[in-house]
Amino acid sequence: MKIFLDTADVGEIREGVAMGMVDGVTTNPTLVSRTGRPFKEVIEEICGIVSGPVSAEAVSMDTQGLIKEANELSSIASNVVVKIPMTVDGLKAVKACAEKGIKTNVTLVFQSLQGLLAAKAGASFVSPFVGRLDDLAGEGMDMVAELLTMLSNYNYSAEVIVASIRHPMHVVQSAMVGAHVVTIPFKVLNSLTKHPLTDRGIEAFLKDYEKIPKG
Ligand code: E4P
Repeated sequence: MKIFLDTADVGEIREGVAMGMVDGVTTNPTLVSRTGRPFKEVIEEICGIVSGPVSAEAVSMDTQGLIKEANELSSIASNVVVKIPMTVDGLKAVKACAEKGIKTNVTLVFQSLQGLLAAKAGASFVSPFVGRLDDLAGEGMDMVAELLTMLSNYNYSAEVIVASIRHPMHVVQSAMVGAHVVTIPFKVLNSLTKHPLTDRGIEAFLKDYEKIPKG
């Protein structure tokens, strides 16, 4: 399973890359706004750090506007993937982008059928948001499992990025249902490395090492 970082913080991205864990990055307007920096500058810098796909979100509401933004965003770097919202205008833009060879990531998917339509339109990636569904007492991971089965039934090449990940169990569940990618906040990546018994074990081994006579 590929791991993308869901952040626009270049410090976090550099740290994740140093860990050897970052296959790509997803951003959204909220994440970029937290950096306090210009949008294009941030995306350009991220694309210089990560060689894998970097999702940058288009914000137009109409097809022509989305296509124009897709052209602009994809010219920033060859690894930019244009994030397009799951709307009718969005689907039309995805189709136009696919015809031009521009990669897209259809975002804000909350229903497996929305994901199927995105794949049919030619999206390279589809992003079901599990955490936001779970927040409303939904079952985000059921949607992911359904979507994966649908895409596999009809041999769609779109990769499913499980998004809106809140905790390590979402990552476990994503891997168990065979998601192609999880996109996770940096703090979740960090928590995947940790277990209290690992810390306790290291502490005990270090103490015992001190008891070994020095030769
Ligand atoms: C995905 O591409 C989105 O950026 C992200 O996962 C949204 O997650 P949130 O629900 O934590 O905002």
